[in-house]
This record gives sequence, C-alpha cells and structure tokens, in this order.
Amino acid sequence: TKYPDQYDKLIADPGLISNLVPEIIRWQTPLSYMRRTANNDCEIGGKQIRKNDQILMWYLSANRDETVFDNADAIDLERHNADRHLSFGYGIHFCMGSRLAEMQLRVLWEEVLQRFERIEVQAEPERTFSAFVHGYTNLPVKVTRR
Ligand code: HEM
Repeated sequence: TKYPDQYDKLIADPGLISNLVPEIIRWQTPLSYMRRTANNDCEIGGKQIRKNDQILMWYLSANRDETVFDNADAIDLERHNADRHLSFGYGIHFCMGSRLAEMQLRVLWEEVLQRFERIEVQAEPERTFSAFVHGYTNLPVKVTRR
C-alpha cells in the first residue's frame, strides 16, 4: 500500500471519506486531458493560439500544480483545497456525472471500511495503454475480512 499512514488515518476516522473522495479524484485524475479546437486567434498564458489549433487541457498537470496544491504528488486526506481539482473539466462541458461519481466513491469506501480490515496492494498495477484514460487494467490486492 502506497500511503499506509493515510490509510491508518482513514480507518481511525471514517469521517475523512468526504475529503478522501475529491482528493482521490484529484490525485488519480481518471481522464488525463480533454481537447478543444480554437474558434479564434487568442493568447493564453503568453502562448499564441491560432484559429483551428488543437489545444490539450492537461488536467493531470493542473492537478499537480504546486502553486495550488502543496506537496501535490502525495495523497493528503486533510488537504483543505482537494476539491479545487480539474478532473471533471471546467466550464460549460463540466462533467454531468460528477455528483454521481463522487457518491459512488463515497458509498464504496463506506462499505469497504465496514467490511474489511485492510486492502493491501500486492504488486505494481498494470495500466491502461492510453494517453487519455489514466486507468488500471490489473491491480492484485489482498483483502482481510473484519
Ligand atoms: C470519476 C469519474 C469521472 C470523471 C473523472 C469524469 C470526467 C469528465 C471530464 C474530464 C469531462 C469533460 C469536461 C470538459 O470537456 O470540459 C466529462 C464530461 C462528461 N461526463 Fe464525466 N467523468 C466521470 C464520471 C461521469 C459519470 C458517472 C457520468 C454519467 C453518469 C459522466 C457523464 C459525463 C457527461 C455526459 C459529460 C459531457 C458533458 C458535456 O460535454 O457538456 N461522467 N467527464
């Protein structure tokens, strides 16, 4: 398990689930980026963009922005601004299912903590072969019942 101290904290205080949810979604960033096509010439962050340019918005990078998130690479269940992540996008195309996704994670962790003493990762994960989906295809774990 990668952050055993954080797991211990969660077991001691299941109330942390409400902040675990946005923090996991920030840290994992299930979709790495989305793409837009520029409608007009413009300038963003000092870069010249021309009409019809293809722009990638790297959520993965934004979610590791050290000017926004201290120690951004680490999972911190007490992070005060975990919900400032951009994993659901931004603006008019903001994810329609964000609340459902958050609820699913919350219920999953509520049930997991009630049923299992521990879930321990047994080997390095196998990852989805994709620049877009930041996912896992295989992650062997050992589950200990309560
Ligand atoms: C943790 C899980 C999820 C993540 C990380 C995620 C992420 C995203 C992202 C990045 C976008 C694009 C935002 C943009 O282009 O600016 C998006 C759009 C969308 N998502 Fe999700 N999503 C998740 C779960 C879901 C679920 C559970 C549903 C449906 C039940 C859903 C439905 C949609 C729809 C319909 C859009 C298109 C919205 C639009 O174009 O106006 N998503 N999502």
